[in-house]
Amino acid sequence: MRLVAIIGSPHGMKGNTAVLLDGVMRGARAAGAEVTLVSLAEYTVQPCNGCEACHITGVCPIRDDFTTIKDAMLAADGVVLASPNYIISVSAQVKALLDRCSGPIHTQAFEGKYAAAVVTSGGGNSEEVEAYMLRALRMMGFTSVGSAGALAWQLLREETRIPLLNAAEALGYALVEAIRAKQAFPDQDEEHRQIRERMQTLVTMRKDHWPFEYEYWMAKTGR
Ligand SMILES: Cc1cc2nc3c(=O)[nH]c(=O)nc-3n(C[C@H](O)[C@H](O)[C@H](O)COP(=O)(O)O)c2cc1C
Repeated sequence: MRLVAIIGSPHGMKGNTAVLLDGVMRGARAAGAEVTLVSLAEYTVQPCNGCEACHITGVCPIRDDFTTIKDAMLAADGVVLASPNYIISVSAQVKALLDRCSGPIHTQAFEGKYAAAVVTSGGGNSEEVEAYMLRALRMMGFTSVGSAGALAWQLLREETRIPLLNAAEALGYALVEAIRAKQAFPDQDEEHRQIRERMQTLVTMRKDHWPFEYEYWMAKTGR
């Protein structure tokens, strides 16, 4: 069982988000997963330039580390996505990665995989960012298992840090157990059905412009 943990803080594994992500990875490893860490601070993932080549050919022409990271995500059974809260959203590093996944979103390339999110904030609103990240992960096809969030100061004090780390470890454990059991999340079924239908319709409407994605769906649905 393989997981990829992606952290999008410019502080890499030296910041607050890393403390919480480390807890999730500990839980996942204790449950038997092999976890590969990808710190976006050590990679280059440029913003999407909107060229649509991924839809047309299936290949992103930007020469950077995106394809390596995408391939690691595709090879894994699950993903943990971690970000600091930057202005009630994810960091630019995480947003660039999400945007570059436009092609995999159209093809629902991560369908059948599971994911969790991790967020830390200075003052608050972690829940909003967690909800956004989980929704974005479901949009990519992942089944979302849950999230962990904390305020930076809560990680500094032992009495608040310990329960947060316990919850993070439990999330890592739950993610691995969900993958192992191929756990059903019936509350996500309708959302996934709608996203799949939306992507198929979109690609069919644009079939003359996006031949790669059209042929991909034709093959995937056996038509
Ligand atoms: C550019 C920037 C924007 C931020 N925006 C918010 C915000 O909107 N709300 C908040 O509570 N904290 C905000 N913060 C604080 C970070 O979310 C917080 O310090 C986080 O724990 C940093 O994680 P890291 O050490 O892993 O990078 C911001 C920090 C930076 C640098």
